[in-house]
Amino acid sequence: MKEARFISVEGTDGAGKTSVLATIEAWVKAQGETLITTREPGGTPLAEQIRELLLNSRCDKLDDAAELLLMMAARVQHVRTKIQPALAMGQWVLSDRFFDASYAYQGGGRGLSVERIDQLHRWAIGDFQPDLTILLDVPVEIGQARVAHRGDEKTRFEEEQTAFFERVRQAYLARAAAAPERIVVIDARVDQVAVQQAVIEVLTERWS
Ligand code: TYD
Repeated sequence: MKEARFISVEGTDGAGKTSVLATIEAWVKAQGETLITTREPGGTPLAEQIRELLLNSRCDKLDDAAELLLMMAARVQHVRTKIQPALAMGQWVLSDRFFDASYAYQGGGRGLSVERIDQLHRWAIGDFQPDLTILLDVPVEIGQARVAHRGDEKTRFEEEQTAFFERVRQAYLARAAAAPERIVVIDARVDQVAVQQAVIEVLTERWS
């Protein structure tokens, strides 16, 4: 049995995380490892309730700082009650988004201070972080066109304008540049098969 790893997948809306999550799941299972797949915001019953508030509640305008704190509250619950216990039992954990999203959306998108987000994380989860983060990078127009194609009801985030997503994208890229060992950027403009192939190469290189 290999050491259990924690992997997150990130990207702006419409970057194509779903097929990459499936690719990673299949690769880990093919190594004979057990894996749980989870997501943020959410992943536990309580954190899923917070997710509902964050994505769909429109009863009054959510303050930016309150948005960050709700993301954090959901994250602490998720880390302490689900992710860390699974890793301790030897299970791999794959999360559809994790803390980099707070730097990208609440930091880049909403303009909250990175230092403040750092401080909160340090207080809430210490230096706990993914072993590997796959960042799917795609120009904002392409991502938005993919989201529009889905035809689902829009979340609070999906209602934002192009400039918001440009800031989110740049914040993700800046974060990747500052942590190149952990965050691997994959060009997600190309077709799904090429993206999946690139992801498999990253996993194989690290952990085969
Ligand atoms: P989701 O429907 O999962 O969007 P996607 O399919 O694009 O992942 O909704 C998650 C949304 O929450 C997404 O728009 C990004 C946002 N988010 C933050 O703003 N901050 C965070 O810390 C996290 C984890 C997510």
